[in-house]
Amino acid sequence: MAKKNRIQNKKTVMKTGFHRKKKVQRWSYVVNDEFSEKARKAGYRARSIYKFLEIQERFDLIQPDHSVMDVWCAPGSFLQAIRNIVREKQIIWVDLKECKPFSYPNVKTLVCDIFDYDTLSKNVIEIVWDDQFDVITSDIAPNTTGRFDVDQYASVELNIEICKFSDSFLKPGGDMILKVFKWEDFNDLAQQVKKRFTKMTMYKPMACRDSSHEEYVICIWKKELR
Ligand SMILES: C[S@@+](CC[C@H](N)C(=O)[O-])C[C@H]1O[C@@H](n2cnc3c(N)ncnc32)[C@H](O)[C@@H]1O
Repeated sequence: MAKKNRIQNKKTVMKTGFHRKKKVQRWSYVVNDEFSEKARKAGYRARSIYKFLEIQERFDLIQPDHSVMDVWCAPGSFLQAIRNIVREKQIIWVDLKECKPFSYPNVKTLVCDIFDYDTLSKNVIEIVWDDQFDVITSDIAPNTTGRFDVDQYASVELNIEICKFSDSFLKPGGDMILKVFKWEDFNDLAQQVKKRFTKMTMYKPMACRDSSHEEYVICIWKKELR
């Protein structure tokens, strides 16, 4: 009986501790999230626009005469910012999910999985204006499982697929922005990037939450691949 009580007490303590921790995290998240509030007021689709704007301000990768592929872009806040720069050249955006369309003539959308390379490349070839893009941007994130070791590897795998995609669809001399959960398997991705690009720089915008392991990989000047 005494043992049963001890177990019950332990369960109550564990349960209460977990609940409190969650509540504190959620509360601080809401209070500190000035970027979500700012994005909502400005009519942007997501707070991630501020990550993109900071990267663009710092690295100046996208120019008005560039064509851009924004992969894994839903709900489309990166695209809102990209479209403010690129008014006429083509922008293609891709995601697993359907999302609210934009009514700009230079913006085309595709629903596709990065791991389905054949379908994706066939669909891109059907709608693309030029053979290759000047810039590829990606803010891809896997569905998180709650196990960080699993999630960070899934993030690395997604980005390696994008690197393969860039072999055919990014111009030599083109640039690419990737987002990764940077942890123990990051080197697998870094190797793939360095093989293809002249320079790789890591950048964590202010708009990324402090608690997050996400960082952006700025891939500069695609090499001529032989
Ligand atoms: C953080 S959101 C992108 C936010 C976007 N950059 C914006 O500013 O609105 C990440 C996206 O990656 C997409 N995604 C995750 N895994 C994918 C996969 N295998 N193929 C295609 N898209 C994927 C998700 O559907 C999600 O919309």
